[in-house]
Amino acid sequence: MVFEDLREFIDHLGKTGNLRTMDDEVDPELELTYILSEEERIGKGDAILFNSVKNSQIPAVGNLFSTRERMELILGGSPEDIGLRLQNLIRVPDDTDSMISRGLEMMKELGGVKPKISSSMGSSHRTMEKVDLGRYPICKTWPQDGGNFITLPLVITRDPVTGQRNMGMYRMQVFDNETTGMHWHIHKGGSEYEQNYAERSKLMDVAVVLGSDPLTMFSAVAPLPNGIDEFSFRGIISRKRMELVRGQTVDLVYPRNSEIVLEGYVDPSETRVEGPFGDHTGYYSLEAEFPVFHIKKIIEKDKPLYPTTIVGKLWHEDVIMGKAIERMFLPLVRIQIPEIVDMNTMEEAVFHNMVVVSIKKRYPGHAKKVMFAIWGMGQLMFSKIVLVVDPDINVHDRKQVIWAMSTRIDPSRDVIIIPGTVTDSLDHPASIMNYGSKMGIDATRKDESEGFMRPWPDVLDMKQEIVMEAQAKREKLRP
Ligand SMILES: Cc1cc2nc3c(=O)[nH]c(=O)nc-3n(C[C@H](O)[C@H](O)[C@H](O)COP(=O)(O)O)c2cc1C
Repeated sequence: MVFEDLREFIDHLGKTGNLRTMDDEVDPELELTYILSEEERIGKGDAILFNSVKNSQIPAVGNLFSTRERMELILGGSPEDIGLRLQNLIRVPDDTDSMISRGLEMMKELGGVKPKISSSMGSSHRTMEKVDLGRYPICKTWPQDGGNFITLPLVITRDPVTGQRNMGMYRMQVFDNETTGMHWHIHKGGSEYEQNYAERSKLMDVAVVLGSDPLTMFSAVAPLPNGIDEFSFRGIISRKRMELVRGQTVDLVYPRNSEIVLEGYVDPSETRVEGPFGDHTGYYSLEAEFPVFHIKKIIEKDKPLYPTTIVGKLWHEDVIMGKAIERMFLPLVRIQIPEIVDMNTMEEAVFHNMVVVSIKKRYPGHAKKVMFAIWGMGQLMFSKIVLVVDPDINVHDRKQVIWAMSTRIDPSRDVIIIPGTVTDSLDHPASIMNYGSKMGIDATRKDESEGFMRPWPDVLDMKQEIVMEAQAKREKLRP
């Protein structure tokens, strides 16, 4: 099922017992996000609709993505199956395919790829007389946060060179009722396009959507290569064409089902201090200079909902989204690095700080080849530590991973450090923002092809015939 908009999704959660509604007044300063966080920590991860937020007439809703089951509901299937569907799209027909059946299959899969664009929102939306961010229940999450932050914005931009669209999720600090920060990291799509505007000394149109159907919101987070349109991606997953509308004051399109749209611009010559902000890493991201977003116009749906999330120490809904991304994109990663058997972007390491991959090793140096491939691939380039293990290790079992890491390496031979390379903008220990080092750990078994001249010991394992019989006898021990 594809949810038409955020309201339909919330109604569905209400009907299926996955929504709590809070009518008590809550404070957007620290209190609202704390309640969301506690529901995730000790509750069952229900979404919460806050009907009465202090100083705002507009309800806020959070914990939209906070369970794996809900993520599957949003995606319309398991991330694994969707990953295989995406992989299948680029499969060359083999001898068993008739061209007709393959063509029909492709038509079905690509039916939603091209968005429909119309020129106006229709009567469901109105243009606000005044730009006033103060209307919205925008939260402050942590005591030392530099202010209130929009945490689930869909930021839409367009490359002035190619005309290609981009939609990313980048937090926005409220500076005043008409101005926010624009926290796109230097490696991300929005920042790349901004540089192209800077080179042409042009203002950059930006549209920000607060609230759309949940699949569109997820698509903004998905690590798509630049040049792949998030709206088409959303259309492929849902097999339904996305409905978009042309902006009023910006040369951009945005979802017709938007709850709130902020139209405005970024002047590439302007920056302002943004932060601090309690981040996914569990630390406050430091203050830094970031672009500024000026809002020219606000368009609102009738009775809009404002979506929010809590960003901070583990575990929050970003972990559920991150794991869905890992499972969905693994089949695509395998197209370029087919020797990868499985991959775990570890949530304890905030995903980008440590990735464990098991590989089918075939030749000397193979583990290092995989490390370099990972460091060269999309947002996997942020992986600070890459640990490569053999396929007998389950990469999702921390005990097995640590066993392999500690028993299969000789550190001076198997650990490589690459200085002077890319880091995620959130890599706090790097001496220079966005610039630091990487560590690769090759915990695969070695043999003479890699200069290891001793015999490699066998792994302890019991004979299967013994296991069956002994197990039956052991069962009898039970009273
Ligand atoms: C809740 C949340 C907040 C995020 N905040 C930021 C942010 O402030 N800056 C940033 O660069 N990425 C942020 N991200 C990650 C990006 O949305 C993600 O990397 C996305 O793929 C970027 O899209 P792009 O490659 O099209 O730029 C956030 C993700 C989530 C789930």
